[in-house]
Amino acid sequence: AKNVGILAIEIYFPPTCIQQEVLEAHDGASKGKYTIGLGQDCMGFCTEVEDVISMSLTAVSSLLEKYGVDPKQIGRLEVGSETVLDKSKSIKTFLMPIFEKSGNTDIEGVDSTNACYGGTAALFNCINWVESSSWDGRYGLVVCTDSAVYAEGPARPTGGAAAIAMLIGPNAPIVFESKFRGSHMAHAYDFYKPNLASEYPVVDGKLSQTCYLMALDSCYKTFCNKYKKLEGKQFSIADAEYFVFHSPYNKLVQKSFARLVFNDFVRNASYIDEAAKEKLAPFSSLTSDESYQSRDLEKASQQVAKPFYDAKVKPSTLIPKQVGNMYTASIYAAFASLIHNKNSTLVGQRAILFSYGSGLSATMFSVRFNEVQHPFSLSNIESVMNVSEKLKSRHEFPPEKFVEIMQVMEHRYGAKDFVTNKDTSLLAPGTYFLTHVDSMYRRFYSKK
Ligand code: ACO
Repeated sequence: AKNVGILAIEIYFPPTCIQQEVLEAHDGASKGKYTIGLGQDCMGFCTEVEDVISMSLTAVSSLLEKYGVDPKQIGRLEVGSETVLDKSKSIKTFLMPIFEKSGNTDIEGVDSTNACYGGTAALFNCINWVESSSWDGRYGLVVCTDSAVYAEGPARPTGGAAAIAMLIGPNAPIVFESKFRGSHMAHAYDFYKPNLASEYPVVDGKLSQTCYLMALDSCYKTFCNKYKKLEGKQFSIADAEYFVFHSPYNKLVQKSFARLVFNDFVRNASYIDEAAKEKLAPFSSLTSDESYQSRDLEKASQQVAKPFYDAKVKPSTLIPKQVGNMYTASIYAAFASLIHNKNSTLVGQRAILFSYGSGLSATMFSVRFNEVQHPFSLSNIESVMNVSEKLKSRHEFPPEKFVEIMQVMEHRYGAKDFVTNKDTSLLAPGTYFLTHVDSMYRRFYSKK
């Protein structure tokens, strides 16, 4: 198979959200902490009728329908998620009724889990399958689905929720340059979920930021080395039009991109001009440990990176800023934002993606954009996703209501024998929702 990559994308996020400015005031945080400090505008969340299964049912059925893909044409279905509703039964199996109906049960793949990285693992499984000798000519389908919720405290504003479905196959408009992947995997306790009775993670916020940046540096080095070996020249950020990051909150994305620019400065990349060199020179002798602690370096590199950030990163920040951290779906929601903002102008260009999952696992990889025919053209992907309309038609909740919903969800997590309020008034037609969980913990869904 040639030009293997992403053929089609559909994104779903709940119609329910809270403004960060409102949450900030309610939490008693200083004004600007969530909006400027974390760089977030708004946060999406599931109410009691939605969860990672209903969101992925919605995303998958909508993708198949809107791109006119017959469920029989899917040969592999992989799910990435870190939201555990069952310790054995995969989310993938909950999606099978869509395919069983058309008589297709010959579909490989199950779930992949490691914090926010599971979606990337699922995606690579599908790409590798299509490129392998076990490929049977059908499409792969990847679903990233998560509901990110935190206990009350400093991490709560970094929640979010979404599901993304991506169709994988040959002759794609988004082609993977798989030779250049750079990964970094290590053992860390930065963010983890050891309490199986709670949906909330245990999180060492400061450590998680440093782990993220260390993984980024390491992936970038490996990526650059592989690029140099294969292309015979140095890679710098000048060699890609766009950079897309896993986005726990936007401020970390700003810092991450600045870090790449600092790496390029250390590697003496030619686009770094004299003025930038002068600004960054005082930091060239820092050890790498010192460099993660230096506030002055952070400031100086963000200053140097600013114009490049505006051109190469900003177009991918829309959905993550509006919906929040969607865990496995975050990086692909950022990628969807790039397609939403730039669609067919991307043809011939390159984007570099950085996927990070705590614990930790991370990969930097590269894609190129191609012109292909309807329905898999970039402009059709943009139109199917319909991002502006989906963002516009959301309903803002007051903080008291949000907190109340979080409390209901805490009780419902791991519970059996309950019926939801079945209030679908805010859901768009075609959205799946949870109706009840019976005495055997079996979950039941319906479609609006
Ligand atoms: N106006 C403007 N900026 C402000 C204000 C204000 N009034 N108040 C604070 N800030 C800034 C701070 O200076 C800081 O910015 P800086 O990092 O550039 O210095 C930022 O807002 C955040 O403030 P902190 O005091 O550092 O925030 P706190 O420690 O309370 O929480 C954290 C932030 C750690 C990110 C927390 O939300 C968290 O733990 N989130 C979950 C962990 C996470 O997302 N990790 C990322 C990688 S792992 C993953 O993807 C899950």
